Amino acid sequence: MANIESVLQETRVFPPSAAFQAQANVSGMASHQALTARAAADYEGFWADMARAGISWKKDFSKILDESNAPFYKWFYDGELNVSYNCLDRHLPEKADKTALIFEADDGAVRRVTYQALYNQVCAFANGLKSRGVQKGDRVIIYMPMGVEAVVAMQACARIGAIHSVVFGGFSAKSLHERIRDAGARLVVTADGSIRGGKMLPLKSAVDAAIALGDCECVEAVVVYRRSGDDTAWNAARDIWWHDLVNGMAQTCEPEWVNAEHPLFILYTSGSTGHPKGVQHSSGGYLLGAILSMQWVFDARPDTDVFWCTADVGWITGHSYVVYGPLALGMTEVIFEGVPTYPDAGRFWKMIQDHQVTTFYTAPTAIRSLIKLGSDLPRQYDLSSLRLLGTVGEPINPEAWMWYYEAVGQSRCPIADTWWQTETGSHMIAPLPGAVATKPGSCTLPLPGIMADVVDEHGGSVPLGQGGYLVIKRPFPSLLRSLWGDPERFRKTYFPAELGGKTYLAGDSAHRDADGYYWIMGRIDDVLNVSGHRLGTMEIESALAANPRVAEAAVVGKPHDIKGEAVVAFVVLKGARASGDEAKKIVAELRDWVGKEIGPIAKPDEIRFGDNLPKTRSGKIMRRLLRAIARGEEITQDVSTLENPAILEQLKEAVR
Ligand code: WT7
Repeated sequence: MANIESVLQETRVFPPSAAFQAQANVSGMASHQALTARAAADYEGFWADMARAGISWKKDFSKILDESNAPFYKWFYDGELNVSYNCLDRHLPEKADKTALIFEADDGAVRRVTYQALYNQVCAFANGLKSRGVQKGDRVIIYMPMGVEAVVAMQACARIGAIHSVVFGGFSAKSLHERIRDAGARLVVTADGSIRGGKMLPLKSAVDAAIALGDCECVEAVVVYRRSGDDTAWNAARDIWWHDLVNGMAQTCEPEWVNAEHPLFILYTSGSTGHPKGVQHSSGGYLLGAILSMQWVFDARPDTDVFWCTADVGWITGHSYVVYGPLALGMTEVIFEGVPTYPDAGRFWKMIQDHQVTTFYTAPTAIRSLIKLGSDLPRQYDLSSLRLLGTVGEPINPEAWMWYYEAVGQSRCPIADTWWQTETGSHMIAPLPGAVATKPGSCTLPLPGIMADVVDEHGGSVPLGQGGYLVIKRPFPSLLRSLWGDPERFRKTYFPAELGGKTYLAGDSAHRDADGYYWIMGRIDDVLNVSGHRLGTMEIESALAANPRVAEAAVVGKPHDIKGEAVVAFVVLKGARASGDEAKKIVAELRDWVGKEIGPIAKPDEIRFGDNLPKTRSGKIMRRLLRAIARGEEITQDVSTLENPAILEQLKEAVR
């Protein structure tokens, strides 16, 4: 594994420049250490101070952390607030005319939305939701393209205490169906279609198809934003245009004051079973994580920054660093409908130049693909507005890090490599860029108050230099509260009894170097990370197995230059093993099938056929062996326990 090796040899260190450090919110390592020490000395007092400083409470809290029903922790649990109030209303006295959103459409058209205008739109849509009977605690599925209306829909839910669950527009009707049902959604918000890279992709028809799959009686209405102008089938009893819904609605709406623990949203993510997990976040603790990480890691300067996180709102990154964090701070931010390579691979750099972006946050996979398509392109644009860069989603290889640092940041901007997860809600391990020296490929040090550690299978800390499980030993405010409808799975997955039942098991392996810096090594479960997107091997396996041709399937990951990881599927067909043109045809068919079952992001990059899969005598598929085969590695493992060793030769052959 080239990546891991180059990471292990990495010795370069980049301390913050004197200029950056001088202006930073947390300036110098001594300040960082003081915060960390404060959290260690008075954990609850530390978080309470942060929560009072960052959040406007309707009713102040007197309780801080409740651990009596661990691991179902509660924070600030007699406080009351409204998240949308914190993102909008509280800025209006001074910032009504300030630009909140700079929306750039796929075709380059730009639309600016002030805080006042965003407030008005959110209130009107919130009133529209109420007119359709949506109440506090109801679930609303949002299946929308990246744009102003997606932000409005999410904020409107927050405003009335409805729980949103955003489903990424790239997920299929089948995936959407599963999420609508699991959440028991009362309403779905969608668009006729989305436009990305010049192409129209239908969304409303996927909603229709999802509901047609059945058992969706919970859905009383589908609100459709007109974006692509495509014709769409219409069910007058159920469907309503966005513009008709908000027409005539009041542009003010009293926020619903909710308890700090009231669920703000559910976001589905992949785990190690065939079914996605509904990660459930709170209102108070989640908002605090978004605010603090904006201030600490992104060194937010609300009055002068132009912030741009390129993530879609369908992922947690879009929730915390598009919809909630930047708006809670009253910042100006860019939101982008399109893709980084359209009309050409200079799009990001042109947008940074055009909008004078100061803080840019994207994924390693995007960086790698842009290096490949035009490593000199950034130099053709004026990127002097940039002061800070960030990455998220997967480990960044030092080569990509160095290019990002030199070609994009002009060796001037610190790079914040941010480790966190859907479950943690906000950054956990990342540099505070005015304090922590960075090393290419390391996410550096835990944030103040985050009690991270690397442990063995009994929960004991491992020495520096040794690999182990990445854990967080004390509950923190932005941690997920449960899995929607499945508290037992929450407990078992994240707080295993083997580690004492109170330690958060992240699902990643990591090691720390001699300076205590964290280096993420990869997932410990059957979760793949493809282009920064989380995919469960079991989900793809069950999708394949649902195909009438397939008898059995096993899925593993293998390293990929651009995507980080590629999906390799081993398939046993019913009937004879396919070869030649027939095999090619079936591969195309199965890839399409997975695209329809889950979404295009889950399509296997490679499919290999065998008469069988390598199994132990007790019938367990030997995935480690399959991983070695997928990587083209020599098989050094003991295969004597294998029921059918002859199968290995067959599986070495890939169909392309
Ligand atoms: C998994 C979480 C957090 C938003 C995007 C992904 C991997 C995430 C990093 C990083 C190394 C990273 C981990 C983690 N990951 N950021 N900076 N360095 N690995 O959220 O879909 O919940 O995936 O992404 O494996 O567990 P997610």
